[in-house]
Order: sequence, then structure tokens, then C-alpha cells
Amino acid sequence: MALLVENQSLKSYNTFGIDVKAKFFVKINKPDDLIASSQIRTLDGLSKITLGGGSNILFTKDHEGLVLLNQIMGVEVLNQNKQFLNVRFGAGENWHKTVLWSLQNNLGGIENLSLIPGTVGAAPIQNIGAYGQELQNVFIELRAFHLDQKKFFTLSKDEMGFGYRNSVFKNDLKGKAVITDVTLRLSKNNHQINASYASLKDKLDELNIQEPSIQDISKAVIAVRQSKLPDPEKLGNAGSFFKNPVITKEQFKYLLTLYSVVPHYVLEENLIKVPAAWLIDRAGWKNFRKNNVGTYSKQPLVLVNYGNSTGLEIQRLAEDIIHSVKSRFKIYLQPEVNIW
Ligand code: EPU
Repeated sequence: MALLVENQSLKSYNTFGIDVKAKFFVKINKPDDLIASSQIRTLDGLSKITLGGGSNILFTKDHEGLVLLNQIMGVEVLNQNKQFLNVRFGAGENWHKTVLWSLQNNLGGIENLSLIPGTVGAAPIQNIGAYGQELQNVFIELRAFHLDQKKFFTLSKDEMGFGYRNSVFKNDLKGKAVITDVTLRLSKNNHQINASYASLKDKLDELNIQEPSIQDISKAVIAVRQSKLPDPEKLGNAGSFFKNPVITKEQFKYLLTLYSVVPHYVLEENLIKVPAAWLIDRAGWKNFRKNNVGTYSKQPLVLVNYGNSTGLEIQRLAEDIIHSVKSRFKIYLQPEVNIW
């Protein structure tokens, strides 16, 4: 069993680069390590956080419990038919490397999710989505370890409670279970090319690609992401900090009294999604910087750590933005990032 470390700095384990400590810290290299760590009496009853790439978390204080770093690796091809292959990936595998592996093997389904930071195990937790694709569309099942019940269990797609940037792991199972592997269904041929998301379409036009392959889609997504989103290696961030809010027709009408054009997507008759970035931008927060924290110049939905910011400074900025958007537009922004 991997070593239990005390008072471990988490600075290099979260992409915001926040320097907090975990009272206890353990690296999980294989599912059995979870059983072994669950038998350590000192850890009973302590609050537990699982980290993958640490790319969707904001630490606001030292963690007085246990941090489990999920490094369970492995790629296993399961069953297949003429068109699809089911592949089981270890939860600690890097997500983008997994996308590249699928492209090298000409397997389709996750190319639109290229360059998303983090691990395979983190992907279903917030049902990662980008450029017209969501993880739930290729998800078959996952296996996980329940930290209180101390046993392994399996969840199929129906049991995952998937929603927009949401799943049962952000609700009932929050802090209670560690995902050990995830099975995805990837296409071997007749790939379903998804090139309709506006900025992706524009990039493909710019690259003069008319009939994109899955590899072309990935290339274009990578180019769009690199042009709009900061590289966490260079500038601490956790991607979109807020969810795009879903508002009612009445709230939308109110926005239209302020602006003649409001970007939006109609979800169903009375519900409309508006880009949080647009609201934050109109509320005057684009390229904002105060001391060590700010909003990213090209995408104000991304909060950044310019240097030695604390988690509390970022949380305060987030609260100021929430307050300002609420008083201006009567819309309440919800964080997408997990705050601890
Ligand atoms: N916009 C502005 N000002 C800006 C930037 C954008 O007004 O400075 C407005 C524009 O109207 C633009 C709209 O925001 O059309 C939407 O921007 P974009 O298409 O870049 O996407 P997003 O809604 O901001 C979402 C996801 C991203 C994902 C992209 C692409 C959420 C919270 N975010 O962003 O996911 O990569 O779409 O699919 O749903 C993440 O979850 O961490 C993430 C980066």
C-alpha cells in the first residue's frame, strides 16, 4: 500500500496552484490501495477528497482530513461489435492522452473533448462537455469504491444522474466514493462527426476543411481552446468557473429590455441558457485584475491566479462577480468548480 503522508502541500496537485495542506495524503495506484487505506483506523470518520488532475477544484483552506490522489492506470478493450468498441480506462489516466489514444486507434466519440485538463475518473463527475459533445453520450459504466461502506460498486449510465456539468458524484456521492475505472463506447467506423458548434465550425472553415475526420475535429478543437483558454501550466485556473445559467422567459425578456441582442440557446419552451461569459463581460469584469487574482482576458468565465493567490481571494472575486451579475441582470450564477 502506498505511503500515508502527513501535512502534504497540495500546490502542485491543483491547477489553480493554491498552496494549502492536507492533514493526510495518499496516492492510490491500484484499486486494492483503497481497501488498504480504508482499514487505517486514524482515517475513519475524516472528511475525504479525491483528486485526479485537480483541474476543477478550488481549495479555500487546509484540508483537515484525507486527500486521495487517484493514479489508477490502465486501458482494457472489452467487448465489441461491427461498429463499436467498449474500452475500460483507469480513472487516473490523463483525459487528453486518452483522447489522443482513441484518435491514434481511429476510435470516435471523444474528439470534441480534446485538450480538457484532468483525468478519466474526473470526466463523469461533472459530465465534461465541450464543442457540442458531452461525456454522457459515450458513457457505459464506471466502477468505484465507497469510502464509508468500504466496498466496490458499479454504476451504469441510468444510475449516474447526468445533467449539465452534473452527476450523482456532485450530489449524493460527493466526497463518498472514489472512481476506479470508466468504460466508454467508441465508434470504430461511421464516426458521428459533430462540427456544428459555432466556434468549431469557424475554425474548420479557417483551416479549409470541408469534410472533417475525427482527427481534424480534434485539431480544430485544440486550436480553438488554445486561442481562448489559458494553459493551467502557465496561468493557474480551473476552466469555466461558473455554469452557464438557465433562465426563464421572463428573465430573458428583462435582459432584452437592456440589450437588443442577447446570445442564447432555447432549451425548452420556458427555459433559456445564456452564456455566463457574456453576462460577466457586460457587467464589466472582462480582463479584471486585483492583486493576484482576475478574469482571463479572452474569456472572463475563467478566473485566474496570477501568482501567489489564496483560494479565499479567488472565492471573494467569484462572490463579487455573482453579486454584480445578480444586481445587474437578476440572474444568479452558480459555480461549476468544486469549492472546498
Ligand atoms: N462571450 C462574451 N465575452 C467573452 C467571451 C465569450 O460575451 O469575452 C460570450 C459570447 O457570446 C460567446 C459565448 O460567451 O458566444 C459563449 O462562449 P464559448 O462558446 O467560448 O463557450 P462558453 O459558454 O463560455 C462553454 C463551456 C466550456 C466549453 C465551451 C465550448 C460551460 C460553463 N463552459 O463555455 O467548458 O469549453 O462552452 O463548448 O459550459 C469548462 O467547463 O471548464 C469549460 C471550459
